[in-house]
Amino acid sequence: MADKISFEAPRGMRDFYPEDMVWRNRVFDAFRAAGEAAGFEQYDACVVESYELLARKAGEEVGEQIYHFLDKSDRHLALRAEMTPTLARLVAQRQKELSFPLKWTAIAQCFRYERMTKGRKREHYQWNVDIIGEESVLAEVEVLGAAVDALRRMGLTTADFKVHVSSRKFLGELLAKSGIDAAKHAQVFLALDKRGKMPDAEIAAMLKDGGLSDADVEATFRIMETKSHEASPELSELFRLAGVAGFADALVFDIGVIRGLSYYTGIVFECFDTAGEFRAIFGGGRYDNLLTTIGAEPATAVGLGFGDVVVTELLKSRLGGDAAARKDGIAVGFMFPEQRDAAVRLAARLRSEGNRVDLSLHAQKPKKFFSHAGASSAAKAVFLGPDDVAAGVARIKDMAERTETGICL
Ligand code: HAM
Repeated sequence: MADKISFEAPRGMRDFYPEDMVWRNRVFDAFRAAGEAAGFEQYDACVVESYELLARKAGEEVGEQIYHFLDKSDRHLALRAEMTPTLARLVAQRQKELSFPLKWTAIAQCFRYERMTKGRKREHYQWNVDIIGEESVLAEVEVLGAAVDALRRMGLTTADFKVHVSSRKFLGELLAKSGIDAAKHAQVFLALDKRGKMPDAEIAAMLKDGGLSDADVEATFRIMETKSHEASPELSELFRLAGVAGFADALVFDIGVIRGLSYYTGIVFECFDTAGEFRAIFGGGRYDNLLTTIGAEPATAVGLGFGDVVVTELLKSRLGGDAAARKDGIAVGFMFPEQRDAAVRLAARLRSEGNRVDLSLHAQKPKKFFSHAGASSAAKAVFLGPDDVAAGVARIKDMAERTETGICL
């Protein structure tokens, strides 16, 4: 006998049943509306890329998590783990023709062979919002403003989340002032990014491996106690402009934000729920060298990636698991085959008037029809029996209020 095939999706991959799509649509709708409101243009690209484009060095986790394979012609290909290298490729391909600054947005399905924890899957959708070719810190403000707008559209407030903001450039300046050579900063960032995830003693060991003396390590930990961004004109301007734009209450300065990806060069940020229950909601920052590393002309860029997994968990916990369910349709049913034409006609008319209509596909008893309609997304229900059709008038029932009104057939 043949073995039974497992009905489960491969570990970490995701199925979306209708009740999951309701949540996904709520999140995607907010992504699209916020991108649109802030004037970002939509783009899309292939999910499969050349492995070479996606893999980087610098000990990044993401590089090690890439799903890759050889195709039948021995091309080394990979599923994208993030959208940023692809975006860089798209821009590089048309760098001469495009008019900068670009404001581009996409919802990209990404794959990472991650250790499975709460909020981390091996497949996720990531909303990307990027501005390419603009040096002003207003670019950071616009990108962050769009993300905060999306969270608000989903039904969250700044009591639920905070965006933690810092700057690798600022941290680099503080390190340099303490006599830690710029050549060692990449290693220092890599080690400091692990703070909170591993004990300080291990981080100190990583710093020493990176060539820091005991005194340097001590100075580094002292720098990580910095509580004010006042010494950074750029960060101060970002916070001020966010105030003008009306979302300063969403931001906090946090020197501890480093980011795991090596391409960030300036301001970096990560959004967390205030209760500290979940993983990062979104993350991003300024990256100046990505285009040059793929052989294109230099262009400064700033952007973020906002995954659907964590925010959906957060929304369910704050708003309730049923909060996304719609109750705005009309169910239309009929008792005998003789009323079928009248039901089809009524459904067609209600649909042409802009309603979402679920037409029963066969004759049924009223009890069965109303119990199915009650469990569905219908807010109203009309059931046609012989008398209704003979009279040319039926009753339309409001499922929540349990009231009825007449409707002409
Ligand atoms: P990232 O921090 O690796 O940055 O990912 C950004 C967001 O994607 C995370 O905050 C999280 O919401 C989501 N995410 C990442 N991995 C997973 C996963 N395995 N499961 C569920 N959600 C996940 C980047 O990817 C950068 N490329 C973002 C960026 C765009 N920077 C500039 N432009």
